[in-house]
Amino acid sequence: MGCPVSALAPRPAVDPLEDIALVNLTDKQKGMIKESWSSIQQDITRAGIIMFVRLFESHPECKEVFFEFRGVDDTEMLRVNKELRAHGLRVMSFVEKSVARLHEPEVLEKLAFDLGRKHYGYKAIPKYFIYVMPEFIRAIQPILKDALTPELEDAWKALFVYLTGMMRQGYLEEERRQRKAGAPPTIERPDRKHSAI
Ligand code: HEM
Repeated sequence: MGCPVSALAPRPAVDPLEDIALVNLTDKQKGMIKESWSSIQQDITRAGIIMFVRLFESHPECKEVFFEFRGVDDTEMLRVNKELRAHGLRVMSFVEKSVARLHEPEVLEKLAFDLGRKHYGYKAIPKYFIYVMPEFIRAIQPILKDALTPELEDAWKALFVYLTGMMRQGYLEEERRQRKAGAPPTIERPDRKHSAI
């Protein structure tokens, strides 16, 4: 295959279970996602904000990434708050882009992989990517209401598992590349109890 990402050799070592998570979506799932996106799209701003506000409530440690990325302390919280919320919109825009590329798997793979690479620079660890999916589902519930069937929910979850799995691979690839180039490793705050992955 002429896949741009697969062409990168050698690929980062991944947990075999993670590979299972990268199983392709079925055509039916892709169709359901596309159809529901047209409703979600109408409320994308609100859904994006709700999603990220809840993410920071359920996983406050995620906020630190933004503080660290911007080099700010708690006193600048209000200003940064705007940026935390703005990230919700960035995620939604990325989902929009991904939905538009569902039938171009190689393009989608590269988009998510490259986004994961960028997140290494943002010091946002892959473990945190996984927290976004349940909040996305919660944010789209009031928009889709009964239309959010278990089947549709599973389709969205499968897309998020795919995207975040690919982002994780990009993150690991960038980490490996920078370590090889002698760049200092991602700064771990002393109070951060989590492993990077
Ligand atoms: C599904 C998961 C996620 C997606 C799709 C996503 C998407 C994005 C996008 C599209 C950008 C802008 C990239 C650019 O500059 O071109 C971004 C930036 C960023 N992301 Fe994420 N992100 C995710 C999860 C996270 C998490 C969990 C954190 C932190 C806990 C995080 C922290 C950041 C930071 C610090 C930036 C740079 C500042 C900003 O643009 O707001 N991301 N993300």
